[in-house]
Amino acid sequence: MTSLTLSTSSAATLRADAVVVGVAKGAKGPVVAPGAEAVDKAFGGKLATVLETLGATGADGEVTKLPSATGLKAPVVLAVGLGDAPAKGDGYDAEALRRAAGAAARALSGSKKGAFALPVADAGDAAAVAEGALLGAYSYKAGQNNGDAKNAKNGNKKNGAPLAEVALLGAKPRDKEFKAAAERAIALAAEVNRARDLINTPSNLLNPALFAAAVLEAAKEHGLKTEVLDEKALKKGGYGGIMGVGQGSQAPPRLVRVAYSHPKAEKTLALVGKGITYDSGGISLKPAGHNETMKCDMSGAAAVFATVVAAAKLGLRVNVTGWLALAENMPSGSATRPGDVLTMYSGKTVEVLNTDAEGRLVLADALTRACEEKPDAIVDVATLTGAMVFALGHRTFGIMANDEAFRTSLHEIAGEVGEQSWPMPLPGDLRKSIDSPVADLANMGERMGGGLVAGIFLKEFVEDGAVWAHLDIAGPAFNESGPFGYTPKGGTGSAVRTLVRLAERTADGDLG
Ligand code: BES
Ligand code: MN
Ligand code: ZN
Repeated sequence: MTSLTLSTSSAATLRADAVVVGVAKGAKGPVVAPGAEAVDKAFGGKLATVLETLGATGADGEVTKLPSATGLKAPVVLAVGLGDAPAKGDGYDAEALRRAAGAAARALSGSKKGAFALPVADAGDAAAVAEGALLGAYSYKAGQNNGDAKNAKNGNKKNGAPLAEVALLGAKPRDKEFKAAAERAIALAAEVNRARDLINTPSNLLNPALFAAAVLEAAKEHGLKTEVLDEKALKKGGYGGIMGVGQGSQAPPRLVRVAYSHPKAEKTLALVGKGITYDSGGISLKPAGHNETMKCDMSGAAAVFATVVAAAKLGLRVNVTGWLALAENMPSGSATRPGDVLTMYSGKTVEVLNTDAEGRLVLADALTRACEEKPDAIVDVATLTGAMVFALGHRTFGIMANDEAFRTSLHEIAGEVGEQSWPMPLPGDLRKSIDSPVADLANMGERMGGGLVAGIFLKEFVEDGAVWAHLDIAGPAFNESGPFGYTPKGGTGSAVRTLVRLAERTADGDLG
């Protein structure tokens, strides 16, 4: 991964391939942001004019590269847009800093070292710049995650090497707060990037067993406790939902429990992830145009796994238990048919009306199992419904919950870490649409509000009294259009930063 160093050197004298400065949109044209004073001086105090002449406006995400001036060590100056300049006396918004740093890091891919001279007023700003830069400096390397050496060797001529080193200027390396901010950013970005790697790995190289193996390997390294239920154990244990979805595939399903615990923890958080390593739709096969990106259907499980490792790396004073419901949804002679009735781990029966509504089936079993341990709160994360993408678009995830205060907290936390989300309801009137004449429930109901129907289905498998929330990340999990800010094309690592902050807040006793 890209390395990060803190430095109080002048932006003029630090040796680097490029020095990154911020430019904001002012009332009368672009303005150079604080942090770039030495660079501006080398341009005779005319950097804003030079940038304006080059067409720069300071708009969010805009990148302008220009040759350096005499007196600067770096041969190139990269000016990155910060969006509207803050009002006098106000600082820059954390998300504006993250995005600008990310866009700059992407523009420097292939380079060795970037000196980031963005506006850093305090350790919080340093954290934002570090996070954005490390998240922007990402590229998927084929085969890196699954020990597929041959593929790794042939692979990544495609995506180019990410920027190798980020030097963060204006950040005192020996200051406790700055140091902690940098360490957190490094751990967090590494784990978001771990989730991205897993999501980007093609389904033939990451089936449920290989995903479970990747968990075991990381668990060994980070001292996590694991338990893997294979298809035999799942069958014996009565996990009808996970088995019902996985039985059509040559690659059998797994349920993985991966747990971080702290000896002084007072609270336990259970995280449940949808881990469909490929979603063909099953017998209710998806049409062409809807299946090309379905390797991303394990993004929830990837986010949960990454969060547990992050909690361990950060040594949080909270227990975090991850449940990964892993299966491949395929059509075959052994696949579940539309109309089949499954007996779930909870004992409830479900009529499978549509085999493409598989996520809720694997999650149901994992949720029931997670509830048995009586965690203080449960959050499931899933690329669950196309309906949620229609409702909220490609950058915002939906939050549903059986506890309004918890839903509000999650929405606030997401905003704080720069993830777009929106609270969604679980309207009682939709419940009857999943009634079945032959089972306790059907796995599909009213089409309108399909994202909420899925949430209502999941709620049936959450123990009464348990505090539970459901994040439907179908929109933001996988970026099919161009990269922006610190978000690459492909797997994004959606929800990892929200879940890590939730774990931190729980550790600090900030939540209920
Ligand atoms: N994995 C899909 C949902 C999805 C859609 C994720 C687009 C990412 C992008 C899920 O398993 C699915 O197929 N859901 C169906 C449910 C329907 C059959 C009730 C859907 O949303 O169409
Ligand atoms: Mn599906
Ligand atoms: Zn799916």
